[in-house]
Amino acid sequence: MNGSESNGLDHLFSETVRETMNASVYGAWRSIRDAEAVPLSFGFPYPESFPNEELVSAAESLFEYEGDRALQYGGGEYADALPEVIVERARDRGMDCTTSQIHLTNGATNAIDTACQTFLDPGDTVFVEAPTFMGALRLFRNYGVDIEGCEMDAHGLDVEALADELEAREAAGAALPKLLYTIPNFHNPTGVTLPEDRRERLLELAETYDFLVLEDDPYGQLRYDGAEPPPIRALDGSGRTIRANTFSKTVAPGVRTGWIVAEESFVEQFDRINAGGEPSYTRGLIARYAEDGRLDRAIEELCVGYRERRDRMLESLAERMPPGTTWSEPDGGFFVWLEFPEGIDAEEMLPDAIDEGVTYLPGSFFYADEGGTRNARLSFSHVSPAGIDEGIAALATTVRAEASAVEADD
Ligand SMILES: Cc1ncc(COP(=O)(O)O)c(C=O)c1O
Repeated sequence: MNGSESNGLDHLFSETVRETMNASVYGAWRSIRDAEAVPLSFGFPYPESFPNEELVSAAESLFEYEGDRALQYGGGEYADALPEVIVERARDRGMDCTTSQIHLTNGATNAIDTACQTFLDPGDTVFVEAPTFMGALRLFRNYGVDIEGCEMDAHGLDVEALADELEAREAAGAALPKLLYTIPNFHNPTGVTLPEDRRERLLELAETYDFLVLEDDPYGQLRYDGAEPPPIRALDGSGRTIRANTFSKTVAPGVRTGWIVAEESFVEQFDRINAGGEPSYTRGLIARYAEDGRLDRAIEELCVGYRERRDRMLESLAERMPPGTTWSEPDGGFFVWLEFPEGIDAEEMLPDAIDEGVTYLPGSFFYADEGGTRNARLSFSHVSPAGIDEGIAALATTVRAEASAVEADD
């Protein structure tokens, strides 16, 4: 996947870089694009959702109020106020925390990386959902850990299968996980949400087998139906949950500001280890923007825009897909997860889909090892409702042609 020629200095790369530079499929998705095709592969917000004018006015009033302090190391009062904004919002979602339990980051990716730096040693075992966010897989690979995929079903992580796996490992003297990474709300890529009883069971297992839970929740506030289960962090009485979050999906990816909620003793180490992760100007900007309920109003508007897109995608799939294809029906977030009929390989079919006028991400991208060959992730977040319909029509045509080719071969 590394497109550039070596300059003869590769031997100076760290061992980790040398081991991972050619193996990682992360970034492969960027090449899945075509000017003519509807990009259902992109898990990006739709551009009109960005609060351009609001951010400009927040920036103006930030400078009016703080002057040069807004740009100095550490920033001014608004930058200082962001942890308090985060604490208040966390309390609204049932997490009783203080600013000493908040570590600010450059987005959720940097939050996950900080947790990795702080807790993982080469040879440790990390459990992830199978499938899971490919960006997290890429990070875990950088730490020389063994990544094990855990089974999922229509309600997220299958906690009883996890219990069996842990028990079997313990009995066999095999490695137990140090950390389990989960995306409990509107999971990337499947769109499913973990119910409360499973969250409780997961925590029970984490205590029994002494591992950390890394809860990644970038989409939790983008809910279009139903009630929100409590965050895992809110249910955890043992302090072993590290919760990563971000403003990338509720403000814009370009602000790339996120945070961790965790025990104070963990946060002290995150502050030390993640040196330089202090985007003070952006912190001030977001704190100013979030004032007066602006962020909450923006989230409500985002939910309207995304709900319309989600509905259009589900309607279009129901109307157009040939029999044999199934898909998840998410209550929020950005993604729908498809399973194609027996015999269809999503990665092999992709060039035909692109010719037909649509892109998607093959399911195999989201697995630590094998899996997902018949699956695809479709994103309804980036394209207009009409574009979604067009993309699904192209996909349905491709699947129909592929399914009849498979039948003819049988
Ligand atoms: C599950 C998950 N975690 C983290 C991220 C990245 O968040 P950020 O842009 O804040 O780094 C994404 C976005 O694609 C995601 O889907």
